[in-house]
Amino acid sequence: MPKKERYMITSALPYANGPIHLGHLAGAYLPGDIFARYCRLKQRDTLFICGSDEHGVPIMLRARAEGVTPQEIVDRFHTIIEKSFREVGMSFDYYGRTSSPVHHQTSQEFFHTLAEKGVFVLKTDQQLYDPQAKMFLADRFIRGTCPVCSYEDAYGDQCERCGASLSPADLINPRSAITNAAPVLKETTHWYLPLADFQPRLQEWIAGHPEWRSNVLGQIQSWFKDGLKDRAVTRDLPWGVPLPEDVAKKAGVDAAGKVLYVWFDAPIGYISATKEWAMEQGDPDSWKPYWQDKDSKLIHFIGKDNIVFHCLIFPAMLMAHGDYVLPENVPSNEFLNLEGNKLSTSRNYAVWLDEYLGKFEPDSLRYALAINMPETRDADFSWQEFQARHNNELADILGNFVNRVFTFIEKYFNGTIPPRGAVDDLDRELIAAIAAARDGVGEALDQFQFKEAIKRMMDLARFANKYFNDKEPWKTRKAAPETCASTLNLCAQTACALAVLMNPFLPFTSRKIWKMLQLAGEPEQAFWDEAAILPLAAGHQLGRLEILFQKIEDKVIQAEAERLRAVQEQMKKEKALSSQELITIDEFRRIDLRTARVTAAEAIPGAKKLLKLQIDLGSEKRQLVAGVAEHYKPEDLVNKTIIVVANLQPATIRGIESRGMLLAAESEGRLILLTTEQGAPPGKKVS
Ligand code: MF3
Ligand code: ZN
Repeated sequence: MPKKERYMITSALPYANGPIHLGHLAGAYLPGDIFARYCRLKQRDTLFICGSDEHGVPIMLRARAEGVTPQEIVDRFHTIIEKSFREVGMSFDYYGRTSSPVHHQTSQEFFHTLAEKGVFVLKTDQQLYDPQAKMFLADRFIRGTCPVCSYEDAYGDQCERCGASLSPADLINPRSAITNAAPVLKETTHWYLPLADFQPRLQEWIAGHPEWRSNVLGQIQSWFKDGLKDRAVTRDLPWGVPLPEDVAKKAGVDAAGKVLYVWFDAPIGYISATKEWAMEQGDPDSWKPYWQDKDSKLIHFIGKDNIVFHCLIFPAMLMAHGDYVLPENVPSNEFLNLEGNKLSTSRNYAVWLDEYLGKFEPDSLRYALAINMPETRDADFSWQEFQARHNNELADILGNFVNRVFTFIEKYFNGTIPPRGAVDDLDRELIAAIAAARDGVGEALDQFQFKEAIKRMMDLARFANKYFNDKEPWKTRKAAPETCASTLNLCAQTACALAVLMNPFLPFTSRKIWKMLQLAGEPEQAFWDEAAILPLAAGHQLGRLEILFQKIEDKVIQAEAERLRAVQEQMKKEKALSSQELITIDEFRRIDLRTARVTAAEAIPGAKKLLKLQIDLGSEKRQLVAGVAEHYKPEDLVNKTIIVVANLQPATIRGIESRGMLLAAESEGRLILLTTEQGAPPGKKVS
């Protein structure tokens, strides 16, 4: 027997600071799972690894905002994420986490090896430090006034009001987000990975992979073109994998408060999780072939924002270390939009996986995302399309075929597979279509063309439905019973083949069909290459039948779409507010707002909207014309303390002089006068 091909498959470790949404699923997890399931059915030696990425500043910030420890945050989300991954059918052989002792040890050893080999460069420079909290401040821990829009709560790397991208030195009046203390500059030493030195080797390696997706290669080339820059791989932070003490000592640096940069330790998480898997197998060394045998194929599934880390930085680390294989391919997906707009987790403009799973079936989502996967360009998820895919394709094509075949057999053949007699041309076409689907789906998957693959699988179901119609077994049942038996035999064989071919995409449906067919074990144990051998023997008994897909009703979908539309509206409003032209405080101060007491008010004949008011401004008395007659009676205004713009140029309205303007709020066509909360004396400055 030829040696089994070995595949080491990973999906990007999700940050454990929030639940998973559909964008994540479509980007890195679903394609990884489809590919891993396919490899197993192909009898390849397959390992599929993932886990939670539990370090990094956003996790610390969330912990601080909630007043809990980072460990509590990652414990919470690790559990939530792992559960929804399980429920959506992710077939990880192991789901690890980067706060585990094995991971800390593995990444420290990795770092140690690179240090011993003299790979790193040490650099000392000045960084912002909080003298009260006694810690260095990562960009996100520094706040201050935005130099662009004067927003007082801008972060050290970005202003959330105007979107400007900043560096901490740009901020006016920078302060520590932890203690509000003014940060001071303090010297600190860090370890750098000299990526520039690796560029020639990386370029040579990438040149050997012209088969990678063009969008991935495009991004890599643009990094090369700009020239790779050295990257700091340590940080001054209290949360992360501690810098190995002996490495620090050798360099004459105090290790206290230093950790490995999250993007240094996280990809090593793939290796540590594989080690933990091996330990769980009771064979602690069995992780090695997957990572170290040169024929092992390492495949990373990621989203496009992870390309530089998986295609350049991590490979440079692996090269520097020397004991590991390099990625064979990094099929990175583009982004998934939602109802025509970008996802926004902070605004809750997203569909969360755990919420989805509370309402709908996992396979419906797997289908909708796979057939519309953002492989080479961004894709859009809409609830309406989701419903249409489920109702018109899963239910009407796939479900309908399986259902009509099995009920026919149950009704007219006592639930046993009828014998196959002589076959005609149409029968032969169906048999050929099964084999063609097996090959077509397989080839597409081997090229990471998921949309094409799932479409090929559905095409077989489509063809089989047509076959059933053309064969008209409801007629041949009486007229030509042997033909009818052959038809139903072949239809059942097709359902069985579909159960195998759909397994990577629709594992839950695949299992349901397997069960109805009363086949031994699970479809996951089937052989892909034998999917077209027509394995069902005549006389084989079917089990209890069940409907595969119930239609999803309009009102259910409308409720989901409605929620997103409401969020969209809200975001639009916020955007309109924030993009209004902003004025400086000095510009505002030019407007002289004053309290004033209304001493008299009267209607103006012929002007039904206007009232003539006499006001007391403390130091002077004035007359003004106000457009409030439809909202207030003259007598309601007398003795009220109102707010007026005192330095407005005088105007003559209907021949009456008006000096000043009163302020009122508008609400649904009504005017509501601005007054002072407690009767303030007239003439007071308002600011
Ligand atoms: N947590 C990262 C993200 O969500 C991905 C880490 S992938 C790993 O973008 F390779 F670093 F593990
Ligand atoms: Zn700003």
